[in-house]
Amino acid sequence: MSQHCSCSTISRHHEFLREEVHCFPRFTHRGIPSPPGYNAPQQVHITQGDQVGRAVIVSWVTPSEPGSSHVKYWKDSGDGSEPGYKERYDTKYIYEIGDGDTARWFSFTTPPPIGPDASYTFGIIGDLGQTSDSNQTLEHYHSNTKGQAVLFVGDLSYADDHPLHDNNRWDTWGRFVEKSVAYQPWIWTAGNHEIDFLPEMVLPSNVVTKLFVLYIYRGKLFHSSHSCTGITPPTKHPKSTFPLWYSIKRASAHIIVLSSYSAFGKYTPQYQWLEEELPRVNRSETPWLIVLLHSPMYNSYDYHFMEGEAMRVMFEPWFVQYKVDLVFSGHVHAYERSHRFSNVAYRVSNGQCTPAYDKSGPVYITIGDGGNVEGIANRFTEPQPSYSAYREASFGHAMLEIKNRTHAYYTWHRNQDSEPVAGDSQWFYNRHWYPHEEP
Ligand SMILES: [Fe+2]
Repeated sequence: MSQHCSCSTISRHHEFLREEVHCFPRFTHRGIPSPPGYNAPQQVHITQGDQVGRAVIVSWVTPSEPGSSHVKYWKDSGDGSEPGYKERYDTKYIYEIGDGDTARWFSFTTPPPIGPDASYTFGIIGDLGQTSDSNQTLEHYHSNTKGQAVLFVGDLSYADDHPLHDNNRWDTWGRFVEKSVAYQPWIWTAGNHEIDFLPEMVLPSNVVTKLFVLYIYRGKLFHSSHSCTGITPPTKHPKSTFPLWYSIKRASAHIIVLSSYSAFGKYTPQYQWLEEELPRVNRSETPWLIVLLHSPMYNSYDYHFMEGEAMRVMFEPWFVQYKVDLVFSGHVHAYERSHRFSNVAYRVSNGQCTPAYDKSGPVYITIGDGGNVEGIANRFTEPQPSYSAYREASFGHAMLEIKNRTHAYYTWHRNQDSEPVAGDSQWFYNRHWYPHEEP
């Protein structure tokens, strides 16, 4: 018995692209139940389908046999649904997947055109898993109507914490997150729980890689260039082995996604891709330059301490040179926000190893506090380093409200508070257009 993953893209060319993909063994259904009806589509999820937000990839699973790969969609006129597929920005669309009695309807809203003053609000979630704390985090985020897309900083289902990386956990996780990811795009980052190094795992003959195999293939959660012929990947650059590292533009943001667990040393594909990607960022078009990665480059918790140090050594000078605004990471199951600083003066021979304020440096935010099965990280290194502005061992999520080319308002929301309460907040000033020191 095979499970079947389907995906289609809704592109500016209004073509429906389809391909059936035979994936991994069928799973018993636990947790959030499957939708009623034989072979009803489930684990529905959308993500950005091209680099500039003019396409959407819709993916889902049919549990028993291949189902229809068609997506019907139409503009929601507000007083009824209006047929028609003409490309529109900032427009709500209804979409339908499945057939007959098992058809299901969802919706999404297209982003504004790329532009320097396009306002947009991203949610930020990491290390989510599927526990009661995970549920609280997702419900909390879901209750905030401002969020238009999610920047997810890695570690999704935690299936690999179970014997033989129990694939049932991918199904249950797919159904768990559907309430959000079927309605707004999540932008994915690979974490260590996506590596899936399991030599004894038997893979379909057409699967050529072993690391990240479930992340890349199973459920087609991510920009699905591998199997859906014709989809325009977010970046056509040949050195991007997307979806492990890639970039997208959305509204006024240029978002670079890196892979902490792929080679990044000099001459490696990821290094070469990033070296060429950063000069391509046009701050007149997308003023906000945001980097997502899993293992934090700066982390003052007593967990995963300095695991991101090698990548910091390689990439921090570029982050400063190209004036990255924000670096979001996960991995540490807690929250931390840094001041704006850098530590790029250090050489083995000069001893200048103290991070210092740097108006061109990013703010680093660790937000691995989604609430997974491994629990909270509640031990800190002491004393709190001077670069660390705020840290707290609570589960939660964050919101980044980009207002225009100069200002963005950022809030962190711990689970034990009601959504309007911000456990941490900060105005961020854009490093290209308004490089002043934040309050
Ligand atoms: Fe992690």
